[in-house]
Amino acid sequence: MTIVAGPRSRELAAEMAEASGQKLIVPEHKRFPDGEAYFRIPDDLEGEVVLVQNAFPDGGIVELLVLADLIKSRGAEYVHLLVPYLGYARQDKSFTPGEAVSSGTIIRHISRSVDALATIDIHSPSVLDNSDVPAQNIYPAKSFADFLNDMDVVLAPDEGAKHRAEAVAEHLDKPWDHLVKVRLDDQHVVMEPKGLDVSGMSVAIVDDIISTGGTIARASEQLRSQGATRVVAVCTHGLFSGNAFDRMSTCDGVHSTRTLMSEASSIPIGAELSRRILGSG
Ligand code: R5P
Repeated sequence: MTIVAGPRSRELAAEMAEASGQKLIVPEHKRFPDGEAYFRIPDDLEGEVVLVQNAFPDGGIVELLVLADLIKSRGAEYVHLLVPYLGYARQDKSFTPGEAVSSGTIIRHISRSVDALATIDIHSPSVLDNSDVPAQNIYPAKSFADFLNDMDVVLAPDEGAKHRAEAVAEHLDKPWDHLVKVRLDDQHVVMEPKGLDVSGMSVAIVDDIISTGGTIARASEQLRSQGATRVVAVCTHGLFSGNAFDRMSTCDGVHSTRTLMSEASSIPIGAELSRRILGSG
């Protein structure tokens, strides 16, 4: 088996190759003067190949399509595509009549280029029903648990995200909960754990995406005012737009995986991904 590192996911592909001992190929890549992408894979390929490439931002989608075809033309018999961060995944319904359901469009097109598809912690797993080939959503709960092994409790920022807190806490054998909004009066709303008392506890907040940091900033301020001694926020995909890190300064730590690269990309998931996709590592 061979892992091919697309230009948008080089770090994660390298992490998987190191964890699994599989061969890593980094295609030759440059931009033509007009900005279009050039790729070359000098090596012949055979058997199963895993292409790791984000479909984000938009240019990543074109690169992914070109690379998937190139890998087949170099001799691969089976192309397993891992899209760590699937762009457009949050546009999963028409919120206003006439709006594009972009996630379905993207999945349909990229799945036609490969034999199997996997992604990591997709916003809405039902989007994968649009795939023409077998599609898998992976939540690397064990990796998050290993990273958070000194925390007392695991919290999700809302009820819709509670499956993440539950999955991580199960590996840790620690309590978990999710935050709810409680209205105190006409003017004031607080966020607090549905059932747990966090006073004196070190609390991990787990989310899929951190974008502006607003969700984590609110949660962390509230947890501190309820007596939490330490608040660490982790997410799968760190977009960290604008002044997100400043907004989250009440956290003792903010960390993400390497699905998107930033100064906070410090949670290793390569070994777990390799086990679940390649069966090794
Ligand atoms: C919401 O559905 C997501 O799970 C995240 O909580 C959200 O995307 C975080 O966004 P922000 O960092 O802008 O609050």
